[in-house]
Amino acid sequence: MSALTPQLHANGKLRHFLTLEGLDAALLHEIIDRASGFLGVSDQAVKKVPLCRGKVIANLFFETSTRTRTTFELAAKRLSADVLNLNISTSATAKGETLLDTLRNLEAMHVDMFVVRHATSGAAHFIADHAAPHVSVVNAGDGRHAHPTQAMLDMLTIHRHKADFSQLRVAIIGDILHSRVARSQIIALHTLGVPEVRVIGPRTLIPAQAEEALGVRVCHDLREGLRDVDVVIMLRLQRERMSSALLPSEHEYFRLYGLTEERLAVAHPEAIVMHPGPINRGVEMDSQVADGKRSVILEQVSNGIAVRMAVMSMCLGNQNLQHSQSAGATDGQ
Ligand code: CP
Repeated sequence: MSALTPQLHANGKLRHFLTLEGLDAALLHEIIDRASGFLGVSDQAVKKVPLCRGKVIANLFFETSTRTRTTFELAAKRLSADVLNLNISTSATAKGETLLDTLRNLEAMHVDMFVVRHATSGAAHFIADHAAPHVSVVNAGDGRHAHPTQAMLDMLTIHRHKADFSQLRVAIIGDILHSRVARSQIIALHTLGVPEVRVIGPRTLIPAQAEEALGVRVCHDLREGLRDVDVVIMLRLQRERMSSALLPSEHEYFRLYGLTEERLAVAHPEAIVMHPGPINRGVEMDSQVADGKRSVILEQVSNGIAVRMAVMSMCLGNQNLQHSQSAGATDGQ
């Protein structure tokens, strides 16, 4: 992470939400607890709370997204914020305006937060480095680097099904090499005290020295890797980030690593099955598993709204704190 952009204020509160690196367990639990409190908002007749009324949030999605973009938008609206969804393909960026000029123009409209998805690793940090001091930046996925709100909605989902992170075995299966989701999940699982994280996949899709670099157990055999795990996280093959042919075929991949009910039988009987989406049925898993009783994939999507409400309200609420502290300091002079 950029040394220019501390994502915490001096008091340890969230200013930006760019990566899970460097965040402690207390802060991750605060996000989970706050998000748990927001889950009920979806069941209210009026699905809104007034926490961020008067704030302006701009969604800047330079890469395709279904779940993340729409749940960020819903989360902002449930917090009563005003939301701008910039359509990059029809914005002035497509006419040659630089990213920084686009930012300056949005800041001139008094935007308080940028939610950024970009195909380049480090893009959200770059924007945080160059944003005005009162503006917060939330990373909605940058290249292969990080997808911190996805990891936190996954942690909320695990928390709602499993009592104690410190008793869990978690397996992450598939394209670990290109996955920003896996990187953020592994950091979150370790921070929350999960003692055993396994990554499972072909040699071509697991980073070199993953055991030392990521602190995980590497398995190339699906059956061995799934044995007795409590949580199974499937990942999509990130074809758009593969620079060469790393797999013989999707059919061959499913034959070796596709999740079926029969293969899942070696996991713990209460194991849950997760996937960040989008799912490729018949590639990562078959439909029986995707739609089966152990699948919590659609719960993950619902939990995404609550987690994004939590992160955005924390960052925006801390802006208020900072402003009132500086106003108080000025008053006293
Ligand atoms: N999980 C996820 O990031 O999905 P989208 O690409 O649809 O946002």
